[in-house]
Amino acid sequence: MARGEVILAIDQGTSSTKALLVDRHGHVLASASAPLGQTHPRPGWVEQSPAEVLASVTAATRSCLDGHDPALVAAVGISNQRESMLLWERSTGEPVTPIISWQDRRTAARCASLVADGFGETVRDVTGLPLDPMFSATKGAWLLDHADPDRSRSRNGDLCLGTVDSWLLSRFGGEHLIEIGNAARTQLLDARAGRWDPGLLEVFGIPSQVLPRVVASTGPFPTVRGLPPLPDGVPVAAVLGDSHAALFAHAGWRPGRVKATYGTGSSVMALSQDTTAADTGLCRTIAWATGTESGAIAHAVEGNILSAGSTLRWLAETVGRTPAELADLADGASSDGVHLVPAFGGLAAPWWDSNAQATLVGMTLATRLPQIARAALESIAFQVEDVVAAAGPHEVLLADGGAAANPTLMQIQADISGRKVHQSLVSDLSAIGAAHLAGLTCGLWTQSELEEFDRPVRVFSPRTGAAERRRTRTAWHQAVARARATDQPTCDKPTDPPLTGGTP
Ligand SMILES: Nc1ncnc2c1ncn2[C@@H]1O[C@H](COP(=O)(O)OP(=O)(O)OP(=O)(O)O)[C@@H](O)[C@H]1O
Ligand SMILES: [Mg+2]
Repeated sequence: MARGEVILAIDQGTSSTKALLVDRHGHVLASASAPLGQTHPRPGWVEQSPAEVLASVTAATRSCLDGHDPALVAAVGISNQRESMLLWERSTGEPVTPIISWQDRRTAARCASLVADGFGETVRDVTGLPLDPMFSATKGAWLLDHADPDRSRSRNGDLCLGTVDSWLLSRFGGEHLIEIGNAARTQLLDARAGRWDPGLLEVFGIPSQVLPRVVASTGPFPTVRGLPPLPDGVPVAAVLGDSHAALFAHAGWRPGRVKATYGTGSSVMALSQDTTAADTGLCRTIAWATGTESGAIAHAVEGNILSAGSTLRWLAETVGRTPAELADLADGASSDGVHLVPAFGGLAAPWWDSNAQATLVGMTLATRLPQIARAALESIAFQVEDVVAAAGPHEVLLADGGAAANPTLMQIQADISGRKVHQSLVSDLSAIGAAHLAGLTCGLWTQSELEEFDRPVRVFSPRTGAAERRRTRTAWHQAVARARATDQPTCDKPTDPPLTGGTP
């Protein structure tokens, strides 16, 4: 193989970093992953260590390139978990804070007070997103309140506030940048224009000087530095949010496609040029932009589910099993009327209810672990269907992500949705999507070659009738209503502890 013939794709996810080597025909030559932990300093709080994120990127890269000549890498493509935020010193690159995870709900009360002050509509109109603690804006404000209360260091340019893509890019190349799709998830971006919105920066108390420069998904990005055994100077040719990257890998630029990525949480996304706010509980967002600076913007609709694979992980840890063992128990079992509504940190799309509480209903003395495991899997599918149904008429749902590897879940999804589910037989589609765009950008393949790449799927067809589907979804919605029958935010604490620094 000639030099510069492969793409190294790095997917920095919530529970791990994955790395893939993709050849010029789109085939995966090598893959590796490195796990990543998270801490829960308080109920509703979720943090990750910036240093551990970097270490997992380095470890995954090193083990992916093991036995391969690093000089073969033409370019790097990055996909990443979105909305998570951290603060670092511009001069040294040293983190000042931990990463507040997208899953963190500490700013629920702040969001509620902004909504009470009447900012909900403006925020939704400008950004396409409901005012919810999942997005970065209130996380950024919280970090600044603790590390730079009067914002003087932010205004002086001493500090950098950024998402995970910003953090990785700054460590590679020094400049403070953010990819436009990631920027669209901060709740600070005008999603029509692709620019920071000065009015929203004011509302959230975030000085513009602390924010990164917004660039297209194809850059220009810095070249990679300090990622052995990759030689310094290999270009980063694409950056995409993980969900956006998965849509790209499903050839999501073709009209009428909708996909669900089943990871820690789940994201349902489809391209849509409708940039007006629709009252369906879905978000408007930017899928990607190619070309120069903010380039040609591809708009999308998206719905996020906070607890998907993490529901299974929580149950597995609670009962001392693995997610795979629970999936085996659930296979062939019936939930017997048990419903688990995994509102561990409230509910996101389409409900957007921070006060909802995780709820297990319908148990009898006959209820055992298989019923609860089945209810946990079904909760993922019910939540995805609630969002897909809001996204419009789609006969086929494209599926990917760690939990989508589970055939029981895929059949449950087809049965609950009454749609065909196309399970990707290629894993790590977020990394693949980053590779696909990177190869296009650096000229390793053309758009028409990309169209022809293999995208193998296994098709799951519905086995239930419409009446049965209506009955089960009604029972699910009754369980959701019970989870929502509360008005107390779960993580509304009167005082905050001091910041612990970059490594929790
Ligand atoms: N057999 C299984 N059935 C269902 N879910 C599973 C199974 N095995 C693992 N999972 C779930 O898959 C999730 C991991 O998926 P994935 O690797 O796509 O997530 P991630 O990339 O780390 O997170 P994210 O993409 O949300 O940032 C875990 O939450 C885990 O519980
Ligand atoms: Mg992922």
